[in-house]
Amino acid sequence: MTNACISGTGFYVPPRTVTNDDLITNYGIDSTDEWIRQRTGIEARHFAEEGVGSAELGAHAAKDALADAGIEASDLDLIIFATLSPDFAFPGSGVLLQERLGLNEGPNAKHVPALDVRNQCSGFLYALTTANAMVRSGASKHVLVVGAETHSAALDLSTRGRTVSSLFGDGAGAVIVSATEEDRGIRSAHIGADGSHAETLCQKIWDISKRPFIPLNDEGVGQVAPEYMYAQMDGRMVFKHAVAKMSAALRRACDEAGTTIDDIDLFFFHQANLRINQYVAELLKLPAAKVPHNIERYGNTTAATLPILLAEAVDDGTLVPGKKIAMVAFGSGFTWGASVIDW
Ligand code: ACO
Repeated sequence: MTNACISGTGFYVPPRTVTNDDLITNYGIDSTDEWIRQRTGIEARHFAEEGVGSAELGAHAAKDALADAGIEASDLDLIIFATLSPDFAFPGSGVLLQERLGLNEGPNAKHVPALDVRNQCSGFLYALTTANAMVRSGASKHVLVVGAETHSAALDLSTRGRTVSSLFGDGAGAVIVSATEEDRGIRSAHIGADGSHAETLCQKIWDISKRPFIPLNDEGVGQVAPEYMYAQMDGRMVFKHAVAKMSAALRRACDEAGTTIDDIDLFFFHQANLRINQYVAELLKLPAAKVPHNIERYGNTTAATLPILLAEAVDDGTLVPGKKIAMVAFGSGFTWGASVIDW
């Protein structure tokens, strides 16, 4: 039977580090390192320079993952790009990444299809679930799954926006999902959604039901009010639902994989907030050593947190073949997902 496994991982973060103190000193945000650290665990994040967008960050991570898998871009059958900060409203960042991989050049151009996934913090697990289905069905042999975000361009980096802007950072992670006849790989991939909370965490920018969809000023220039331009979040509501849904999704993914929480060697949690993850770990009685984290260095990179965390664990030798791992994420939508993998 054909299984789907992760045959390569990669990641990239832009070089500029922005500490909590930098948010205060360089952007004039009324906050303290202690406030941010205590409530979120975040110490620093990376911000891309102007001119760099999500497709470019994703391309760096994708090339890293292709090299790790030992395949060429032309071996890919599908690209899935998960992001909430796409380069443009359309086309999606998937085609921009495809072009950056040089797939359309020369006589042997391979016009690999590119799909964008818009599921925010759960985007990587929605994309992975899709890749798993495509590989197991025989439709694809190698699928590139990328999560990439350029949050820094769209954060309200002022005291007004501090609750949201202190949480997010830029970065990209990528995996190659490949067919294998070996008895290993993705054992379960569970995803869910509850659209009754669509407005609890959202960044609207426009309202397509309005004519025109962005209000115009007297000169006919579109004007976006701050509450539409920047993400709005009921943080406490997100926190409460995240803890409940992440623990339930993890249990469900283990059930579907025919395994138990105790049998999992390593838990990869979406890096939204260290406190959320500590609550979930406590609830499920997980030893801290089984739950790696890097939010202190990168903040919340949304669709990129899980592939970055995986790639770092591979690089530092924590994640090696034979380990049984579980991943889980929760975020805007609300949407969530969890997966169990025999690595
Ligand atoms: N520095 C200093 N003060 C701040 C900051 C900041 N960065 N941000 C907010 N405050 C202030 C608020 O203005 C408010 O002040 P006020 O009482 O004078 O009005 C006070 O702190 C309390 O604000 P709350 O929003 O009630 O703070 P809370 O204790 O809920 O913490 C937080 C906010 C950290 C966002 C918390 O709600 C949380 O972690 N929620 C989870 C949300 C999350 O992780 N989202 C990530 C995206 S979704 C996902 O990936 C799952």
